[in-house]
Amino acid sequence: MFRHAFMLLAIGMAGPATAQQAADVLAPEAATAPAEAEVWAGLGVQATEALRAKGAGQPVRGKDWMVSAANPLAVEAGARILEQGGSAIDAMVAVQSVLGLVEPQSSGLGGGAFLIWFDAATGGMTTLDARETAPMAARPVLFQDEAGKPLKFMDAVVGGRSVGTPGTPALLEAAHRRWGKANWASLFEDAIRLAEDGFAVSPRLAELVAAEGEALQRYPDTANYFFPDGKPVAAGNRLANPAYAETLRILQREGAAGFYSGPVAQDIVATVRKATGNPGMLAMSDLAAYRVIERPPVCVAYRAHDICGMGPPSSGGLTVGQILGMLEGFDLAQLGAENPESWRLIADASRLAFADRERFMADADFVPVPVKGLIDKAYLAERAKLLAGDDSLPEVSAGSPGWTHAGLWGRDNSLELPSTTHISIVDAEGNALSMTTTIENGFGARLFVRGFLLNNELTDFSFATRDESGAAVANALAPGKRPRSSMAPTIVLRDGKPVLVIGSPGGSRIIGYVARAIIAHLDWGLDVQRAVAAPHVLSRFGPVDIETGTGAGALAAPLAEMGFEINETELNSGLQAIAVTPQGLEGGADPRREGIAIGG
Ligand code: DON
Repeated sequence: MFRHAFMLLAIGMAGPATAQQAADVLAPEAATAPAEAEVWAGLGVQATEALRAKGAGQPVRGKDWMVSAANPLAVEAGARILEQGGSAIDAMVAVQSVLGLVEPQSSGLGGGAFLIWFDAATGGMTTLDARETAPMAARPVLFQDEAGKPLKFMDAVVGGRSVGTPGTPALLEAAHRRWGKANWASLFEDAIRLAEDGFAVSPRLAELVAAEGEALQRYPDTANYFFPDGKPVAAGNRLANPAYAETLRILQREGAAGFYSGPVAQDIVATVRKATGNPGMLAMSDLAAYRVIERPPVCVAYRAHDICGMGPPSSGGLTVGQILGMLEGFDLAQLGAENPESWRLIADASRLAFADRERFMADADFVPVPVKGLIDKAYLAERAKLLAGDDSLPEVSAGSPGWTHAGLWGRDNSLELPSTTHISIVDAEGNALSMTTTIENGFGARLFVRGFLLNNELTDFSFATRDESGAAVANALAPGKRPRSSMAPTIVLRDGKPVLVIGSPGGSRIIGYVARAIIAHLDWGLDVQRAVAAPHVLSRFGPVDIETGTGAGALAAPLAEMGFEINETELNSGLQAIAVTPQGLEGGADPRREGIAIGG
């Protein structure tokens, strides 16, 4: 206790935090260099106001609508639709179709997504699950060798074995049918134009291609696109993708059916099955059977707000909800962002939530998941009692949420690694959309067909089917099952109305990024841009990750003294967020990636 009091004195902060004080620890090392705006202008991007605001660390303001996503060309496409009176869903279709071209490593037609929709007319909220699905021919031991040992992660990823039935094309159509206003075909025009004329390769895409080892060159169609003339594409290179334009024209004419059957589907299946060295088993029947599933959102009360997210097969909504639910009894606003005690609470609440996540969360259509029990107020209050001490918890284990089913699942060891992207949109009618979309690993399975990359989402299943104790793992693969995700598209409500729309890529760190940004905005009063840009401190399974080279480094010593293992590291989130304030809309875009927000 004494040393914590000392710490407070040492940093001169014993009273309630103000947003300014919070910003001292949470200040990002530097706002985006102004030079970035010039780089983008050179690449044909016109969103100068958005780039200037991001460079200055300020939110973008809008009166009626706002779109925030990971690449300026995609955001411009969405803004054009919103400016013409399109709905948030219309804009999302335009944004996603451009992202699949200009940020192909992260998401696209070959991947899957989760979408949360707030409907301004009804005040209702729903979620669409367009997660990739295991082929019917796949078996639980898919990622084990003959001796039953889990494959090395990248050996499993690259090739056809890891490819699940894509969900994104079906999502675009399902969402547009329900909530779209604009003509379907018109929504692909920007993407088709950019694919035919060529788009300027962004610095981040060029960097990621150059950083790829042999994997991105293993399959000729992939190598030919990303390494024209044998050399990696460079920033500013004009890259055309006529095959992608052609695929989008098929979608324009035939809708999602043109993807899930016919020549596009045949090419996907052939590419997966013929992948040299690591073929997969996706079949035409898997594509034909694909369905988007509507599910209720998972909402947890947090102070004056409801935090609504994506339920199983994502662990995102439940785990973010558990973390915040456990923290509700602690006055983080009073403690302040500079206080190591705040971060002890956040870190250990996260560890407790992750212990439940790895034991209980998976595709609820296949295994019973105690969704209600996991976010039950009394259960979370009981778990939060474990946070009462001064030091880090020596050990955390899963709790016993209320549950009618007697199953005891084993601990799971599935891995999740970088790519993925997030889209936040509010339209002029007040509808809000939060969608995290992915092909899983950067460049997915490294298989390129018809102008897009195929996902490796099946490696989000646990490779082992039983844990060390012999208990069955909930997130084991089964035919037709959807792998557990960490994606956490979130809409925060106050009095039933959206006040924050947010989400991020980042594998299982997504959960910590989103929870931290929500706390920074709601408890510490940071505006949406500063909440997004602030340094990350998070925990998943044990160590506390502290974002290297930031003011949060000051927390390393006091947290270590409390008993936490500290891991200072780069934390490459891609938060895209919109705050709905009494003064209007404010957009935020993560300075760690290339995204911007545009409002109008
Ligand atoms: O669904 C998931 O949780 C992962 N496949 C997402 C991967 C990811 O976010 C990687 N991020 N940078």
